[in-house]
Amino acid sequence: MTISNIEDLRREARRKLPRMFFDYIDGGAFSEHTLTRNTEDFDQWTLEQRVLVDLSKRDLSAEFLGARYSMPAMLAPVGFAGSFWPDGEVQAALAATDAGIPMCLSTFSVNSIEEVGAVMPRGLAMQLYVFKDRELASEIIRRAWKVGVTTLFLTADTNVSSVRERDTRNGFRTSSSLNLSTVLDLLSRPAWCVRMGLHGRLMLGNVKGKPGVPGNLMAQAAYLSANVDPSMSWSDLAWLRQQWPGKLVVKGVLSIEDAGRALDGGADGVCVSNHGGRQLDGARSTISMLPEIARFVAGRAEILLDSGIRRGSHIVKAIGLGADAVLLGRAYAYGLGASGRKGVRQAIELLRTETELTLALMGMCSIDELRANRGAVRRLAGERSAAARSPAERVRDAAENEVTADR
Ligand code: FNR
Ligand code: LAC
Repeated sequence: MTISNIEDLRREARRKLPRMFFDYIDGGAFSEHTLTRNTEDFDQWTLEQRVLVDLSKRDLSAEFLGARYSMPAMLAPVGFAGSFWPDGEVQAALAATDAGIPMCLSTFSVNSIEEVGAVMPRGLAMQLYVFKDRELASEIIRRAWKVGVTTLFLTADTNVSSVRERDTRNGFRTSSSLNLSTVLDLLSRPAWCVRMGLHGRLMLGNVKGKPGVPGNLMAQAAYLSANVDPSMSWSDLAWLRQQWPGKLVVKGVLSIEDAGRALDGGADGVCVSNHGGRQLDGARSTISMLPEIARFVAGRAEILLDSGIRRGSHIVKAIGLGADAVLLGRAYAYGLGASGRKGVRQAIELLRTETELTLALMGMCSIDELRANRGAVRRLAGERSAAARSPAERVRDAAENEVTADR
């Protein structure tokens, strides 16, 4: 099958993975409205076409999280990636390194921080879930620092786990052992069984062998989801800030108020995220919240954005509206499920080509140019005549156009 875009990788992943793992990647909370809206809302923004510009020298490189990378994107933390492909996290890290972009490792990874750190000398970040046993979080932080991680992402939108009905149906993270229908599901993908079977028993590498943590992946998944500390609050950010000497990013910010709290707590960055529509169904899409958050942060911290990115034009819109970089979640998880390191590399390169081309057709050669070019990304409704818009729409458009013009 020819792979021309992320949707093709998605289809390939569906063909290759047992339903339990494909649905875990693909699904979202409850009715999946926010999941859908995340991608659809990018269409609310238009790009300015400019022509006859010298496009012979183009460069997508961008600076974020303290270094320059080949494009303003990184791999998001994706739990259980080692169950999509053998050594999934190591394979993703190798692909990110090949492509010159960073990656954030999930607390819920199959490969351990040490295994991933060994193949990723530069650009490895660590995502943290704080468990009821705080010592476990402190240990993960120490281990991350030891292997050279310089940025910690505190995931703040998952104090309680939402319901993803596809996972409930498949028994993923709700049941601690395999039943007949799960076994049949796994057997329906014999190539996956052979690949994974030859590789040995799956465990969550950062927590295996810890007191109280069960000994198989299904049980570990259920146990850990139930043991994320629901009392974690803004006052604990100070505790974390004290323990972590590197850069600290709060992931899951979707309002000005929370961005303010993150800054007050000493965060170096905020990641505008709704967890890819996997937590609060009904939450606003991240791209629709970005302009006001960017205006509020106003250069005091770095701004990252994820949720819904499937096209290069989405990356261009996010950067144009004020993000320093984006995180890719499902886009690369599909690639990993489709063909391991090669598939992740394919996902990154497809998005790179689309981003570069989109920018070029806008008459721009670099990310720095996009950042400086106010108004190249405009709200669709703002293009309609004032008479065709309701008074409320006019007020909103005026505020948003002011946001983009201020940057
Ligand atoms: C995630 N995400 C996530 N986030 C996090 O902080 N820790 C984690 O362990 C995970 N695990 C995870 C697994 C899977 C399969 C997915 C799809 C996502 C959320 C992730 O980091 C990111 O916020 C979203 O994936 C972004 O949305 P898109 O790009 O997938 O639409
Ligand atoms: C998820 C958790 C692991 O989104 O964050 O599945």
